[in-house]
Amino acid sequence: MDIEALRRDTPGCVDRIHLNNAGAGLMSRQTLESVTSHLELEARIGGYEAAAAATEQIEHTYDAIAQLVGADRDEIAVVENATRAWDMAYYGLRFQQGDRILTARAEYASNAIAFLQTARTHGVSVEVVPDDESGQLSVSALREMIDERVKLIAVTHVPTQGGLVNPAVAIGEVAREFGITYLLDACQSVGQLPIDVAEIGCDLLTATGRKYLRGPRGTGFLYCARSMLEHLEPPFLDLHAATWTTPDTYRVRDDARRFETWETYYAGKIGLGVAASAAVDLGLDSIEQRVTHLADSLRRRLLTRPGVLVHDQGDRRCGIVTFTVDGHDPHRVAEQLQAQRINVSVSIADYARWDLEPRGLDAVVRASVHYYNTDSELDRMCDALPKASARR
Ligand SMILES: Cc1ncc(COP(=O)(O)O)c(C=O)c1O
Repeated sequence: MDIEALRRDTPGCVDRIHLNNAGAGLMSRQTLESVTSHLELEARIGGYEAAAAATEQIEHTYDAIAQLVGADRDEIAVVENATRAWDMAYYGLRFQQGDRILTARAEYASNAIAFLQTARTHGVSVEVVPDDESGQLSVSALREMIDERVKLIAVTHVPTQGGLVNPAVAIGEVAREFGITYLLDACQSVGQLPIDVAEIGCDLLTATGRKYLRGPRGTGFLYCARSMLEHLEPPFLDLHAATWTTPDTYRVRDDARRFETWETYYAGKIGLGVAASAAVDLGLDSIEQRVTHLADSLRRRLLTRPGVLVHDQGDRRCGIVTFTVDGHDPHRVAEQLQAQRINVSVSIADYARWDLEPRGLDAVVRASVHYYNTDSELDRMCDALPKASARR
């Protein structure tokens, strides 16, 4: 990877240190231009006319995402964010009283809230699979929990609140062996790790555009395996997702676009395709290697500082680095860094009640690296940290 060239093509690298890639990655100049030039075209010739003129770029997005995750273009729906993608899949499943949902401790808050809602409305049981000693989902515990009432295995691949990578492939082996629907929230992993839906064995996978993929905000996608499509009726339908065939009947589309709506953010959709293609061209193996190298070296630097604790768990770790500094509220640490043009964020227990709360963590500072970050930026971040103290 030519890091200097990649940084030159990333306007956000110029005057700040961006370590909030798990919040939103920095768009490349090419992605940015693809979005703005479509918006300009809409303004100049009209929104419908611009969409017609850009059919090729719009359709390219499905190919690019399909290539990114090893799917077929008909299995991809492009929607406005990862939450909507996940909801369209999850709320399309038909639960009955007594069904069991198995999930992970690191599960994303919105997904957990949805499970709890289904527990209330349908009487399902929501069960959190314990972690193994490394802090990732224990695949042997998962296997032991399986019975005929398990309707869904839904797991977050990489959590928002730490560097953990859950063992998605091994989980998929269990799901396949027992024929259980497997929904993988890959919001934080797409764009930083190689993802192959066939290897993972998931039926459904969701992701956002703006994080490690470096796409525009307000974009996301759902992968729905072809074998799943006919069983999964979207919770909402419109005239794009279905056709009104006679005054009393309708027919749902055959492909994954049944999860989309007619109106969409075309400029964002085009930008998402450009970002996805850029990731594929760079190579996800190389991206993971670079991101993991930077994150590991940041963890090592942090651990040399007195009073700094690193909180990332799991056997395999990614670009998200979480830590606390003794005697300093994580929010104040983030503000202090922000004042020096260093972007980090804070993960709070409200967003990860099954994970941070049992570990006694109210909040952690989250520094998430991307391939365009450099070792010298990591040094500068560490130098800008407050000194640990006993006070809080
Ligand atoms: C693991 C995980 N899942 C889902 C989401 C939701 O993504 P979006 O904001 O695009 O809906 C996030 C966002 O931070 C996340 O970290």
